[in-house]
Amino acid sequence: MSAIMPTYGRLPVAFASGAGAELFDQKGQPFLDALSGIAVTNLGHCHPNITRAITEQAETLLHTSNLYGIPQQERLATELTQLTGMEKVFFCNSGAEANETAIKVARRHGANQGIEDPKIVVIEGAFHGRTMGALSATGSAAIQQAFKPLLPGFIRIGRNDIEGLETIAKHHKDVVAVHLEPVQGESGIWPLELAFLQRARELCDQHNWLLSFDEVQSGNGRCGALYVFQRLGVMPDVLATAKGLGNGMPIGACMTNDRASALLIAGDHGTTYGGNPICCAAASAVINTLSTEQLWKQADPIRGWILEGLHGQLNDSELVKDERGHGLMIGIEPNVPTTDIVRMALDRRLLLNVAGGSTIRLLPPLVMTKPQARSVGERVADILNELGKTR
Ligand SMILES: Cc1ncc(COP(=O)(O)O)c(C=O)c1O
Repeated sequence: MSAIMPTYGRLPVAFASGAGAELFDQKGQPFLDALSGIAVTNLGHCHPNITRAITEQAETLLHTSNLYGIPQQERLATELTQLTGMEKVFFCNSGAEANETAIKVARRHGANQGIEDPKIVVIEGAFHGRTMGALSATGSAAIQQAFKPLLPGFIRIGRNDIEGLETIAKHHKDVVAVHLEPVQGESGIWPLELAFLQRARELCDQHNWLLSFDEVQSGNGRCGALYVFQRLGVMPDVLATAKGLGNGMPIGACMTNDRASALLIAGDHGTTYGGNPICCAAASAVINTLSTEQLWKQADPIRGWILEGLHGQLNDSELVKDERGHGLMIGIEPNVPTTDIVRMALDRRLLLNVAGGSTIRLLPPLVMTKPQARSVGERVADILNELGKTR
């Protein structure tokens, strides 16, 4: 019997090593990784630049705490602000913590205006993490149910509900922020409409609300830009990220622009590990590799090869109902039940998952080769063809 708390439904496989877009199980069998540890290893497994940065830093210094200056953290913050146009960065250890920081920034924005009961507008279907603040902001009753009472102070609207947002602007005097994933991941890869994001930006400007983006999953090169807001042309005031930032080292970041940078002050927020030398060294190597090689430009071609492989091999185009996402956040909604798909993919040595109950989610790394990408598409087609036979 395992001594691990049973919070995960695990698949019957464990990996011993990885290289690029492949993982190898304990017998050395290769698996094509179209999930990247859930959008984390965007540069693939064991990228030499990241391995080198971690090794060198591990030989020098792992951790000192935020009681002292951390040059690696300063360097990473400068790199991130230069590449995003944001102004300041708070480092933490995960996506949930990056969102907790964004929530505190928003509440502090309210407190500074004398708002005692601040409200943050959030979106149906959003996923922001499992800590209590992030869980309360999340738009999924199923994962909130057992953990009530939730944190108050969130108003939820539907995806792309411009009218709903305008109504809130008219009737609520205590709103401080709009917090959203520009591309919802966990609920099935739903890019929010540009018109909605643009209207949210306008309303935030008009009403002195902060526009806060959760790019924990969509960021760090995954969607064809360093952060997807850069592709969409809608600039947030607060940007939360994690996952691909460390390519496997645990690091999160909450970035702010000039409207939000001075809100949190000494004593307002902190973390023991956040932004320590080893994680920042890894993240700097990630950011430098991504930006020097402009690797995010690979996202759209790889997506294209995967979809080519899929459609080239499908017996019936009706097997696919919808395809969504930007770059390497790929949602494929089939016309067949998705219950067995993860297992069937594992049998074909392909790693993927199902999000939102009915959407095949592919989050492959930016280093996936053309033959690998085509093979991902072909293996998915093979599964759908088999399921299609029993329709
Ligand atoms: C958009 C988004 N926000 C937040 C999180 C939570 O991140 P973490 O698991 O690192 O706390 C996730 C994780 O899936 C996510 O996809």
